[in-house]
Amino acid sequence: MMGSIEGLERFDSPGKGRGLRVTRPFKVGELLFSSPAYSFVLSLSERGCYCEFCFTRKEGLARCGKCKKAFYCGVKCQKGDWAMHKLECSAMTAFGENWCPSEMSRLVARILAKKKMQKERCASERILLIEEIQSHVEDVDNEKREMTESDIAGLHRFFSKHLELPDHKDLLTLFSQVACNGFTIEDDELSHMGTAIYPDVALINHSCLPSVIVTYKGTSAEVRAVKNMNPGDEVLISYIDLLYPTDDRNNRLREFYYFTCQCQECKTKSSDKAKLKVRKQSDPIEQEVISNMVRYARKTIREFRALKRIKNIL
Ligand SMILES: C[S@@+](CC[C@H](N)C(=O)[O-])C[C@H]1O[C@@H](n2cnc3c(N)ncnc32)[C@H](O)[C@@H]1O
Ligand SMILES: [Zn+2]
Ligand SMILES: [Zn+2]
Ligand SMILES: [Zn+2]
Repeated sequence: MMGSIEGLERFDSPGKGRGLRVTRPFKVGELLFSSPAYSFVLSLSERGCYCEFCFTRKEGLARCGKCKKAFYCGVKCQKGDWAMHKLECSAMTAFGENWCPSEMSRLVARILAKKKMQKERCASERILLIEEIQSHVEDVDNEKREMTESDIAGLHRFFSKHLELPDHKDLLTLFSQVACNGFTIEDDELSHMGTAIYPDVALINHSCLPSVIVTYKGTSAEVRAVKNMNPGDEVLISYIDLLYPTDDRNNRLREFYYFTCQCQECKTKSSDKAKLKVRKQSDPIEQEVISNMVRYARKTIREFRALKRIKNIL
């Protein structure tokens, strides 16, 4: 039976497939919902800086005594992570320097392990099951297919000892699902910490004029309004960097998500002139442009932090 999230409902969004809309008003800064990750993985480059299980940044994290490569706040987090870390712990020691799966393969290994362990609908699947997330597997071109084949080879090489792997066709579908529904977990300075999958959040469609943003608290995602919303309004996030002009944005959306955006900004291209001015690399960069970019970046980070504060007050 399908679950629910108060104030939200799944619906058929014309031209976009399934989508999410609000059933009550939400104010700017208000939390629509938060979702624990179905599966997550800390980037290898961040090991030692963050706890592998709760993503807390801390000095003096305790090392896994076996592989000496994973770090934790303490015994509780280490125990909590073992079901996932055991997929990598002995393999890292056995392969040594040659242990090099992609972050994508590491996340898929965790999803497969979780699927095996978790038979019931879990807290990150209140309105969409992991099996139901869109795959676009039929749209994947040769270049992407080759990359996925290499990720699948990595999965067999580094994870098959601890995992029963599904057949090739199912793996292609799963990798394709993760490619167009995965989230990058970022810290307060917006740098990449890891990758995760949140089925409920994956129901949210894209707009270049989004109504919500996703922020992270540990490994959980928080969906927060950046506009006042009225009942019936669709919940929309931006999948891409909005600093680029319309054609660039849509090239990215077509390449990674297989659609062309029809939002008001894409129709009118009203901000393109300003964005193109910043972008032309052959032109000497004027001091004013740099100052504007720095001001814009600072303002965005300030707004982002303010929203996080609002969240704590509410
Ligand atoms: C993360 S899923 C969003 C949920 C999806 N609509 C579904 O039914 O599962 C991303 C996919 O939704 C569709 N989509 C998202 N935003 C869209 C938009 N603005 N216009 C058209 N399709 C969109 C695309 O197929 C895209 O690859
Ligand atoms: Zn921890
Ligand atoms: Zn270990
Ligand atoms: Zn758009």
